[in-house]
Amino acid sequence: MLVQGKAFRSIWHEEKRVLIIDQTLLPHRFEIRELTTLADCVTAIEQMQVRGAPLIGATAAYGFCLALEEGAGDAVLADTAARLLASRPTAVNLRWAVERMQRRLSSLPETERPAAAWQEAAVICEEDVAVNEAIGRHGCALIEEIWRRKEDTVHVLTHCNAGWLATVDWGTALAPVYQARRRGIPVHVWVDETRPRNQGAHLTAWELGAADIEHHLIADNSGGHLMQRGLVDLCLVGTDRTTATGDVCNKIGTYLKALAAADNGIPFYVALPGSTVDWRLEKGLDIPIEERSADEVTTSQGMDQEGKVVAVRICPRETPAFNPAFDVTPARLITGLITERGVCTASRDGLAGLFPEAVGHARP
Ligand code: MRU
Repeated sequence: MLVQGKAFRSIWHEEKRVLIIDQTLLPHRFEIRELTTLADCVTAIEQMQVRGAPLIGATAAYGFCLALEEGAGDAVLADTAARLLASRPTAVNLRWAVERMQRRLSSLPETERPAAAWQEAAVICEEDVAVNEAIGRHGCALIEEIWRRKEDTVHVLTHCNAGWLATVDWGTALAPVYQARRRGIPVHVWVDETRPRNQGAHLTAWELGAADIEHHLIADNSGGHLMQRGLVDLCLVGTDRTTATGDVCNKIGTYLKALAAADNGIPFYVALPGSTVDWRLEKGLDIPIEERSADEVTTSQGMDQEGKVVAVRICPRETPAFNPAFDVTPARLITGLITERGVCTASRDGLAGLFPEAVGHARP
């Protein structure tokens, strides 16, 4: 996507340099950071300089590339996998990318592993872009259908950031919006601020502004009210892990939006690449939910008068806080899943119909 007229991806490599956009500083500062070691990749994932399920997976792939530059034996492969897997527990794309890199590299002689790692990481990134572009096409058809029916602007509500910053490019939930905009379909987005880390306010609002897409930032608590007043045509969100039966785990607060959408008869769609399906899991409530620092709840980050990015406390110093980062939306509340292979019901049959090769196996 374009940033001030220049095309960027959220992660890329130049020779053996891995580069990211530091998402902890957006929207106030646009800074490119170089990751030079596996430890840098792990820290970038943990501290959320990179975040969003597909981008976490791509960063993990580059973690292998950097680790293997220091030595490429089986012990390095195992240690790299273990360190990356411990960085964030919920997004299954992390495990997907780690296992894919291990599969690709472990059968090769040590001398061939570093080059193969760089090649595989690049393929993972290219595939991610193509997959998200396809999700965008399928999701855009849903937006277009609503537009043709109502003959007026389509109002989409989204939660967190499932835009291009959460993937290598395009995004998942926002890819249909970007494609609708390119096709001249009038679309407006309600952007949930998404406490505690405010990915909606910091990242989605920034992305949509840069793409000149009409949007309004809303407090997380506003969604139900807007839905009751007929101001939302469609909810579109991403997912960090989807079970084989169609339950979806996404940023904390997603479940409440799905409940409100169901109560108001508003379609609630989840956009995801096949790599986000955990074919080994049946029940959403079995998905491990990351618990992050209480500081993310007791403080809020913004820019001060001098232009410095700072965190300020928003409650008494001694107030305890609890910070589960994700919640589970049961399949019954989801109208459909938008994947790179088309739209299906949030169900075992729906997913199996689109990904038949994955049934009974690890993943496509
Ligand atoms: O904690 P984050 O910012 O990594 O959470 C991101 C989300 O919840 C996204 O909706 C999800 O990863 C899908 S991204 C295409």
